[in-house]
Amino acid sequence: MFEEWQHCMSQFQIFSARQIEALRKGGSILRGCLEEVARAVRPGVTTKELDRHAEEFIRDHPGAKPAFLGYNNYPATLCTSVNDACVHGLPGSRILRDGDIVALDCGVVFGGLYTDACVTVGVGILAEETRQFLAVSRNALDAACAIVKPGTKIGDISSTIQRMVEGSGYSCVRMLTGHGLGTDLHQFPDVPNVGRAGTGPILPAHTIIAIEPITSMGTDDIRELPDGWTIVTADGSLSAHVEHTVLVTEEGCEILA
Ligand code: MF3
Ligand code: CO
Repeated sequence: MFEEWQHCMSQFQIFSARQIEALRKGGSILRGCLEEVARAVRPGVTTKELDRHAEEFIRDHPGAKPAFLGYNNYPATLCTSVNDACVHGLPGSRILRDGDIVALDCGVVFGGLYTDACVTVGVGILAEETRQFLAVSRNALDAACAIVKPGTKIGDISSTIQRMVEGSGYSCVRMLTGHGLGTDLHQFPDVPNVGRAGTGPILPAHTIIAIEPITSMGTDDIRELPDGWTIVTADGSLSAHVEHTVLVTEEGCEILA
């Protein structure tokens, strides 16, 4: 029992004060990037143009690099997942239309350390039911982040997200999870969007995790498009993706990006 616990703990990457400063810097560049790209979202813009904005923004900050570009051969800075796309939407010639939703997912490497964040924004005027769906997804992320402190279990985060999303009649895409990050984009632990409170790895101080509810208005079944990247809902229903990189501090937590 003790050995199992120790094995778990040892897989968390613990960051020094200096590394935490680099993570804060990278995170603030990433937040700035997503704010700028979100402002550029309007009917008529292509997802490729949004990707170019993001890349230019990050490269304008000395020491910062796009984290996704080249990662597993991914060819862009942003993932732009439109409507029924859940994650990994490939930027291209698609033109955004009034009433669409688009998830803008981005990562930054600064000082050798990764931060990862995503916002889902509306294009033009959204249907009321779409607005409500986005609000529930954001509220689930906020509620999950709010409970993060040393001693929080991963299952506490998962169950908070599941309760809020399923309690509003939507579903969590179970195949896709949040994750630890640091010197790599994806590392221990997985942070599922469904689960039981009181279970799973225990968060120590001075670690970071990416919390990322990926939600659907309909089924949680997914399939991959022939482009080899874009994951969509199997029934074509709308999907939202919102993500923060969260630092576990001595007293609680801090949203880095
Ligand atoms: N935010 C995404 C994730 O956590 C990262 C995209 S990975 C890439 O999985 F391959 F598209 F770069
Ligand atoms: Co992520």
